[in-house]
Amino acid sequence: MPLDSRPVEDLTEQEAEVELQRLAEEIAGHDAAYYRDESPEISDADYDLLKRRNEAIEARFPRLVRPDSPSRKVGAAPSTQFAPVQHGVPMLSLDNAMSDEEVVDFVARIRRFLKLDDSDIAFTAEPKIDGLSANLRYEKGVLTVGATRGDGRTGEDVTANLRTIADIPQRLEGSGWPDLIEIRGEVYAPNDAFAAFNQAAEQGGGRTYANPRNFASGSLRQIDPSVTARRPLKFFAYAWGETSAPFAGTQREALEKFEQWGFVTNKRTGCLEGTDALLDYYRRLEADRAGLGYDIDGVVYKVDRLDWQTRLGFVSRSPRWAVAHKFPAQQAKTVLKGIDIQVGRTGSQTPVARLEPVTVGGVVVQNATLHNADEIARLDVRVGDTVLLQRAGDVIPQILAVVDPDRPGRGAPYAFPTHCQCPLKTPLVRETTAGGAETVARRCTGEFACPFQRIEHLIHFVSRRAFDIEGLGVKQLQAFYDEGWVTEPAHIFQLARDAAKLDALRERDGYGETSVRNLVAGIDARRTIALDRFIYALGIRHIGETTAVTLARGYGGYGTFLKAADAIAQGDAAARREMDDLDQIGEAVIDAVAAYFGEAHNHRIVNELVAALDRIEDAEQPRADTAVAGKTVVFTGTLERMTRDEAKAQAERLGAKVSGSVSKKTDIVVAGPGAGSKLKTATELGITVMTEDEWIALVGAS
Ligand code: IVH
Repeated sequence: MPLDSRPVEDLTEQEAEVELQRLAEEIAGHDAAYYRDESPEISDADYDLLKRRNEAIEARFPRLVRPDSPSRKVGAAPSTQFAPVQHGVPMLSLDNAMSDEEVVDFVARIRRFLKLDDSDIAFTAEPKIDGLSANLRYEKGVLTVGATRGDGRTGEDVTANLRTIADIPQRLEGSGWPDLIEIRGEVYAPNDAFAAFNQAAEQGGGRTYANPRNFASGSLRQIDPSVTARRPLKFFAYAWGETSAPFAGTQREALEKFEQWGFVTNKRTGCLEGTDALLDYYRRLEADRAGLGYDIDGVVYKVDRLDWQTRLGFVSRSPRWAVAHKFPAQQAKTVLKGIDIQVGRTGSQTPVARLEPVTVGGVVVQNATLHNADEIARLDVRVGDTVLLQRAGDVIPQILAVVDPDRPGRGAPYAFPTHCQCPLKTPLVRETTAGGAETVARRCTGEFACPFQRIEHLIHFVSRRAFDIEGLGVKQLQAFYDEGWVTEPAHIFQLARDAAKLDALRERDGYGETSVRNLVAGIDARRTIALDRFIYALGIRHIGETTAVTLARGYGGYGTFLKAADAIAQGDAAARREMDDLDQIGEAVIDAVAAYFGEAHNHRIVNELVAALDRIEDAEQPRADTAVAGKTVVFTGTLERMTRDEAKAQAERLGAKVSGSVSKKTDIVVAGPGAGSKLKTATELGITVMTEDEWIALVGAS
């Protein structure tokens, strides 16, 4: 399967890095086509998919977030503020029914009002989506204005933001829609996407949201629509406002029309007669609530016949023909028995609340995340406290508050550990983002020496773009690790010379003389390694492949690099400045180098690795004497004579800079078949465009 269609869960870190680069380039191209040229090349839905893939990969591999990541970019022209929009037909709210009796009363009231005796009344029963409502105005089938509910009479104009939601058609599909129609429905965020966003935000130091509804609301109210576009919002259509002509006789028929016109309506919607059927629907939906994938807070019953709706009309601010039958809140109280720190595979330290088991919304809960030290301090939650729990969106429950903060004999505030619980007892550091900002998260700096992080580091160490050891894949490595044979990089090279271990290996299932010989050859082949691969393989935070190349070129040789790294770890300001002067290297990288080489165990591990190697090759310096030296080059479209990676590596060797997007700074665009917006931009900017053959002729002559 090509890399760009592989599930995110299956990507290795190296593949993820390649994918993130491709996505950054592709999305930048589409952004330019959409925002600047106003001529999008792909549908909003496909664009959204690219963005989401980028976000999902970043959530899995936070340390790979690129400086030019689409998730960090502000692409669109910002709207200055939200203009007010008067709703021609007010957006009203619903009366609540909190019990079965209130539903019985609601049906009886309607029967009395309509003077119906025993005949059953048909109702639609719809999940009450816990998001925020929006009004979408279509004139001659084209979306013209999209607004929030606001106070019901005046909303905010968030048209540009609503346009970024894939479920909202820009043009109505099919036929039969009135010239003017306002579609109403709920903007919401699916639970898994919300959880992934929060997790990534937490790791990256961005803002998190309390629940999917706040997240949806905050995302829709962004000044910059490209921020909204990156948020995983969805939309269910369920009502309408102004219309120039009637288009349906029943609520059910209206929903069917919405589907035909390109909207998503809720599949769980039922059409039922009689109070028992309504209550039965309510109970079934409540039982399925946790598995729907999005938050709902009840059921909305609506009289199906629209002529009856008209007769029933409104009482003050709510329709007489509908009611919201609410679910009980998914909250519960319980006692906090303790706080444990969970150490992640990257050294992240997440406090977890251990609770007296309690049922919340039908699920037994005994753990809750406390996110980080700041969250514990904000709640001032202490062991022994009774806490209010909530399950919201995320399957992992949250602690909302301490119920009894004034209880006598309460213990001391929780002190977040200052050291990792690994045997090294490494002091914890505040996590920084790739941009250098400090976050509230903490992590252990034990790296290879911390048992929680070791295996992840080793897997990275042998991966394709690091040491790339043939015959030593994740499975073999894990087996050697479990055996206690390989816990540090140097052990890999020692293993290849350890006759006793190799003998033992020959006896194993799946190993024979040949595979052992191949493994030894694979390891020996890497006793000589390029400096950039060596640096990358160390797994220093924020040092991806590109940064490793920059550092290798900047320092030239291993000795110079290590000396500089040591000086930085000692706090040498001149050494810091020197590293800072390298292109694209900033504070986050420098701090990461300082933290890494400031630890004695990392020093020892690196030294032992160096001792086990034959040679670390000096970096190849980019040439200054070629036709493309110093030029900025963009490759776009399909290359037929080499891969993108090869083209990039070659161009860089020849002293060129390879960029993913075309700007005034671009010197050459190499365009293959299928080139789109980048080629267009290049032509407009008068940039030299050449074919792959012309490029090869040019660099071949260098
Ligand atoms: S109908 C005049 N249907 O609930 C009634 N509302 O309390 C118009 N909501 O503001 C609303 N799911 O945000 C309707 N299937 C559904 C709904 C729904 C959620 C929200 C909506 C509305 C609030 C009313």
